[in-house]
Order: sequence, then C-alpha cells, then structure tokens
Amino acid sequence: MTYSLTLRRPDDWHLHLRDGAMLRAVLPETARHFGRAIIMPNLVPPVVRGSDAAAYRDRILAALPDGMSFEPLMTLYLTEDTDPDDMAAAHASGLIKAVKLYPAGATTNSASGVRNIDSVRPVLERMAEIGLPLCVHGEVTTADVDIFDREAVFIDTVLDPMRKSVPGLRVVMEHITTRQGAEYARSGGADLGATITTHHLVINRNHILVGGIKPHYYCLPVAKREEHRLALRAAATSGEACFFLGTDSAPHTDPNKEMACGCAGCFTATNTMSVLAQVFEQEDALNRLEAFCSLNGPAFYGLPANTDTITLTRGEPVHYPAKIDTDDGPVTVFDPQMDLLWRVD
Ligand code: NCD
Ligand code: ZN
Repeated sequence: MTYSLTLRRPDDWHLHLRDGAMLRAVLPETARHFGRAIIMPNLVPPVVRGSDAAAYRDRILAALPDGMSFEPLMTLYLTEDTDPDDMAAAHASGLIKAVKLYPAGATTNSASGVRNIDSVRPVLERMAEIGLPLCVHGEVTTADVDIFDREAVFIDTVLDPMRKSVPGLRVVMEHITTRQGAEYARSGGADLGATITTHHLVINRNHILVGGIKPHYYCLPVAKREEHRLALRAAATSGEACFFLGTDSAPHTDPNKEMACGCAGCFTATNTMSVLAQVFEQEDALNRLEAFCSLNGPAFYGLPANTDTITLTRGEPVHYPAKIDTDDGPVTVFDPQMDLLWRVD
C-alpha cells in the first residue's frame, strides 16, 4: 500500500557542517530536506567570537547550491575566555541562537572546551539574563569514569548543580543516549530541552562491537545498551515538548573513520528523514513525527515553525548512496540495516 504524510518542513537542532570541501559536499544533503539547523562551532580553530560566527555563516551561505534555501542558525563555542559582551551582542543582532558547551576533551575538536564550569559562571549568568540557550555536550571526561557511564555521571555531578546555581539558564541536553538523560530532560520544565539523534534510535552498542568493530557506528556519546535505545525511542515518539531532533550528523572521511584511532561521528544527513519515518512507523507514532522534527525544536528556541512542508510517501524500498563523494575523500552514509520504505518527495 502506498500512502503519504505531509509535515511542516523539519529542522535539525544539532548539525556539523565542517568547512571547505566537506561543507560544500554535505550542505546539500541537509538543505534538501531541512529548513534550518543549529550549526555546531567545533571547527579548527573553533567559532568563538561573533565575528567568527558571521564569517562562518557567510561561508555556509556561499556553499549553498543555487535554488536551495536553508537557514544556518549559528552558535558560539564556549571557552574559558569567552567575552560575555561579544556574545550578548551576537545574540542581540540575531546572529547566534545558542552557545555550545564542550567539556574539554569530550569529543572531536573539543580541546578548547571548558575545564572548570566555575570559570564560565559569569557567561552563563549573562545567558540566563538574555535568554540565550546553552547547548551541552553532557559527558564527563575524567579517566576514572567508564565511557558508558559518562552521560549519567555528568547529569548528576555537573548538569544538575549547574542548572541549580544559574537559575533561568535555558539548556539543551544534546544527543542524549540514556534512560537517565530522557528522565532528567522530562523533569526540567520549560527551560530544559533534549535533542535525540537519528542513529541513537536505531543502534545500540552491539552494532559497534559484535562481529568485528564497525567504525561507522562509532560516535560520541557512544551508543549504549538496548534498554537505553528503547528509552530514547519512547522519548522521541512521545510527542513531549522537551524532545526534538538533533541529528548530530558528523561527517568524517572514510580514511579518518577506518583507522587504528578512528574519529567519532555518524553521517546521517542524507537519509535521516526516511530512517525517522521508519522508526516512527515501527513505534506506531507517525502522527508524532512532525512534533519531533518540525514543531518542538522551534517552540523551544522561540522561533516559528517552518511554513512550507515536505511529503513522505510509503512504497518500494528507497535506496540512498552508501557514500557521498567530497573533494576531501568519501564519506559513508549511516546504514540503518533495515529497508527504508518512506521516500521524501
Ligand atoms: C562530533 C564531531 O565529529 O564533530 N562527533 C560525534 O561523534 N558526535 C562531535 C560531537 O558532537 O560530539
Ligand atoms: Zn555533535
């Protein structure tokens, strides 16, 4: 049976576009389906000042193919030297929509991140005052905490104390991967949101490790046990306002993934909407796909939902390329290991 589903155009509330040749190659993959995206600032060097964000936005718009429309929502990378006045000016002008907290060493290009939360308290207080959301990579990085526990420990030892000590700070828990993450997000009221990636709804840690190591399923935060994947699926498909899509589509070339110390990141921009439709159908929740992809995110950020729409049609399996070509090398597209029956028109 063929049937179709029309949604407000979706947005991606956590996206890595990179720069240069990689940017040119991956931007159309997102702009084809998505209206806007929160653009991660973890370039080398990172996007720290308003002027960096303005220049990066111009490079993104210059890389957009003719005839495509897409609005990059810029962010600043929080460092221990962030200038609160520069940040507030970039927010007041409409240039930036969020600030990103990377604990130093947590993930790809996070060396300039924050070592001590107390050192950024004045910046966080200013953000609370002006209503600028903080997007948080929620993992502790200390060697004594097991990598599979890093999110849950971060919630208890960093996130919750930080939110209590900076009342009114609006926070997005980025790419949650655990039941604890979903539970904490639900408990936080209107100032707390959480993004969920496409791939964490599909894979658990077995996909990375069983039958040989699968570098294309390795990302950070790393996929957890099946019980956590199921908790994320329940959260994403619940329609609850605090949960929205942030793909964390994070391209790395195949040589950089397929090496002895491979990079973290799954590239999902190309097939995300087909994968999500499949997941929501499996959960009998297609009527809540629009809330997750197109409504809850703008509502959290105080932006209008997109006014145009996309239509998904169910029929024969849709085939996406296994890789996309970039002038830096091939990038493997996330393989959900299931037939995708929903085509995006
Ligand atoms: C991201 C990247 O490659 O920039 N990698 C990832 O595994 N998600 C960084 C990040 O968001 O953690
Ligand atoms: Zn990311």
